[in-house]
Amino acid sequence: MEPINDYMMNDHREVDAILARSREAAGASDWAALKREGESFLARIERHIELEEDLLFPTFDRTTGMSGPGPSETMRSEHAEMQPIFARMRAAIESRDGAGYVRAAENLYEVLHPHNVKEEQMMYPMLDQALGKEAGAMVDELKRRALAP
Ligand SMILES: [Fe+2]
Ligand SMILES: [Fe+2]
Repeated sequence: MEPINDYMMNDHREVDAILARSREAAGASDWAALKREGESFLARIERHIELEEDLLFPTFDRTTGMSGPGPSETMRSEHAEMQPIFARMRAAIESRDGAGYVRAAENLYEVLHPHNVKEEQMMYPMLDQALGKEAGAMVDELKRRALAP
């Protein structure tokens, strides 16, 4: 059985790698690669956030009894903080603004990196623990939704 933490950590790694490739493309003024990798990054991270907000955080609140001003509220507000940065990245892709994209990507990483560490060190392990044997079914559901159109 695959733990939620392994599955979501792996998704963080993959999304980080796409972000790094898009940043490289922006730095090299490779507009085709920036469009491809940048759009792929934005689509992947938006899906990741959706899975957390629609599925994992509500399950976290329900199974750990930590709803209200707890960790999932903090994670949601950090996701909200990322949204205007995603918009800057999208605008930089459209206008072929390599320097603007690199700056936005750096600003994003400052929020995203500590955010991911908190999820990996606290929220996902607590979810695995709270769900016990049902964690595997949650991973199946995450995979199903990750592939849904
Ligand atoms: Fe998150
Ligand atoms: Fe995450």
